[in-house]
Amino acid sequence: MSEFRLCSVNELEPGAAKRFDIDGHRIALVRIGDDFYAIDDTCSHADYSLSEGDVWEEEREIECPKHGSTFSLLTGEPQTLPATRPVPIYEVVVDGDDVKVVV
Ligand code: FES
Repeated sequence: MSEFRLCSVNELEPGAAKRFDIDGHRIALVRIGDDFYAIDDTCSHADYSLSEGDVWEEEREIECPKHGSTFSLLTGEPQTLPATRPVPIYEVVVDGDDVKVVV
């Protein structure tokens, strides 16, 4: 397990998602309020980028922009069809002004 710095806290607006390519992983970093979540960027249904989808702040989910499945940012589990398989999630560490992911 290694920690990688993704960005500073202020680089991502609340309610936004951004893709990072880290150590062979495509990761969507999502900010909700002051909380950060890291989820694999590739939808489990087909090869589409979750970071281009809408963030559902209250539900703590992100919506795939292609067919609309939503995924829990807490577990990676799909909450709606057509996706049926989870996507990996990653631990996020906020260290001062730095947002880091553990992969
Ligand atoms: S590609 Fe994501 S739901 Fe189909």
